[in-house]
Amino acid sequence: MNTLLLNDSKIEIEKAAQIIKNGGLVGMPTETVYGLGADALNGCAVAKIFKAKGRPMDNPLIVHISDISEIDRYKLVSSFPEKAKILAERFWPGPLTIIMPKSDRIPVEVSAGLDTVAIRCPSHPVARELIKKAETPIAAPSANLSGSPSPTTALHVMSDLSGRIDAVIDGGVCQVGLESTVITLATEKPRLLRPGGITLEQLQSAIGEVEVDDAVFHKLNENCKPSSPGMKYKHYSPKADVIIVKGNSYIDYVNKNADDKTAALCYTEDIPKLTVKTFDMGSKGDMSQQAHMLFEALRQIDKSTEIKTVYARCPDTDGVGMAVYNRLIRAAGFEVISLEDI
Ligand code: TXA
Ligand code: MG
Repeated sequence: MNTLLLNDSKIEIEKAAQIIKNGGLVGMPTETVYGLGADALNGCAVAKIFKAKGRPMDNPLIVHISDISEIDRYKLVSSFPEKAKILAERFWPGPLTIIMPKSDRIPVEVSAGLDTVAIRCPSHPVARELIKKAETPIAAPSANLSGSPSPTTALHVMSDLSGRIDAVIDGGVCQVGLESTVITLATEKPRLLRPGGITLEQLQSAIGEVEVDDAVFHKLNENCKPSSPGMKYKHYSPKADVIIVKGNSYIDYVNKNADDKTAALCYTEDIPKLTVKTFDMGSKGDMSQQAHMLFEALRQIDKSTEIKTVYARCPDTDGVGMAVYNRLIRAAGFEVISLEDI
């Protein structure tokens, strides 16, 4: 299959919308990461997403809408909890996914057999235009091959999925750079399943208490059933061995322990002080910049095949930093060296 690379003009978005209507697959830009979209109400179309990505069928997808009113129009949920409404009104369009009880309009391919559905209204104008023109909600996971970092440019999507999908719309670099925050309101207490651009503090200020799922910071026990199936899969993991190094003497530690097969994934300010090859993960204290840069840095690390070990700075976990840490600790396979303990 020849994958079309489309620009973000009205005419090309219209072309992409036709592909969606015909049951095809389109890589689309969102403000978080690129998504791989199909008509969410067409189970056969959605099944193709799993094939193209090599994604396990038991991992459900997010349904993207262009306006909150489409939840009712397309009858996507069996109930729209009050707190979900508050969050949707406060943070949509934007990087927040809300899990709610699903209606029977949601194909089993989307929900992967669960009785809930994840819904998000992205803020990227191209994504919203595409959903409107396609006249259907769009189911979309991140547009990467399963196991590689989520794509933040159209080129990343092409490099993973060219030949396996119908088209990609180039809408520039994703602004947030990490996937959306996922919260479930299908449980008794609201629970954060995946941190992202909307922070825990923002969620709490809107609806009060929000639990943080264990899987956000910790490796799941083999036998335990995750609240979100995606959390049990290995993610974002470069071929090199990534180790998070926690503590103020990070620079000394890396310089002392490095050889020519070692690199550092570090703050911009660290670069002049390090004697090894470096990958910039953004400025210290600027968590939004770190979120924006992390996946590109992980892809660059993967391109440097001579590197075997990467010592990564341990990011601060407040605000959007929680999302950066959550993705990095997965890339590191939960391997952390705490210098204070040595
Ligand atoms: O920013 C994003 O969320 C991007 C863009 C394209 O919107 N999408 C994305 O999708 O990251 P994906 O499929 O890579 O991640 C969705 C996560 C997975 O971990 C999945 O298991 C979880 O959300 N999820 C989806 N539906 C769920 C449900 N009904 N219950 C629990 N978890 C669910
Ligand atoms: Mg993904």
